[in-house]
Amino acid sequence: MIKFIIQTFKRFAWFKRFNAKVTYELLAKNIPAEDWHFMNYGYTPNIDEPLLAVPNDPKIQKYSLQMYHYLAAKAELTGKHVLEIGSGRGGGAKHIATYYKPASYIGLDIASSAVVLANKIHHATGLSFIQGSAEKIPLPDSSIDVILNVESCHGYGNVDTFLSEVKRVLKPEGKLLLVDFRNSRENMILFQNQLKKSGLQQLSQEDITPNVVQSIEAEDESKKERIKKLIPARWQKLFNEFAGVVGSTFYETLKNGTRPYYRFVLVKK
Ligand SMILES: C[S@@+](CC[C@H](N)C(=O)[O-])C[C@H]1O[C@@H](n2cnc3c(N)ncnc32)[C@H](O)[C@@H]1O
Repeated sequence: MIKFIIQTFKRFAWFKRFNAKVTYELLAKNIPAEDWHFMNYGYTPNIDEPLLAVPNDPKIQKYSLQMYHYLAAKAELTGKHVLEIGSGRGGGAKHIATYYKPASYIGLDIASSAVVLANKIHHATGLSFIQGSAEKIPLPDSSIDVILNVESCHGYGNVDTFLSEVKRVLKPEGKLLLVDFRNSRENMILFQNQLKKSGLQQLSQEDITPNVVQSIEAEDESKKERIKKLIPARWQKLFNEFAGVVGSTFYETLKNGTRPYYRFVLVKK
């Protein structure tokens, strides 16, 4: 019943905004674990994709870090001004700021508790986290070389507004690197059409659903252990669904192809 009500209300932009803000505010506030750095489902590279060595080969959340690592490889970042929209707990920002050495890296997130946590646990040259909305980016026009957006825009109230804000803050030749899923094939087609009419030029799009499924399977055991350790017993079932563990509806719909997950690269001309 509750699920049905939430799905019905999710048709309204105000509810999507409210839902994203409340969910992620609560997560960072109530689970301040300083070794939990990512909230994406992870990425396993294709066999023909050049293998990029991941520094310090992390023991946990390695695949979530790889989601950032391989996405970031789609643009030149060294010495550039980079903005991440929906930076969450900041692990991706820290990795890119350290590994790809941009001139500056701003992580923007709607959830102030996530921003406070990220500022507390991640430090690197040029790295900062600020609170703000993807639909009203608190930065000047034409000020950013590259924007990253990792598994975040499915929750925005108005995706067209987000894309027009991206276009506004990007410099000419600036790039948007984006990965996200949609909960049906129809909604992915809708999103692809929104990208087409955004005024940004698309350089590439890839269906990376199998890569995400593979990473969920590879990390399943350690993820379930961490949920048992970090999440109170009465919330574990709900959290398993949110975390997309093997057996969850999220995982099953990814695996059977009804929930597509894509990677896009666009440029502002
Ligand atoms: C699934 S998490 C992904 C976090 C991070 N990108 C990662 O991969 O670890 C989605 C993030 O998007 C943020 N978010 C949702 N709606 C937003 C909005 N309108 N503006 C900025 N951030 C938003 C959430 O607060 C959350 O931190």
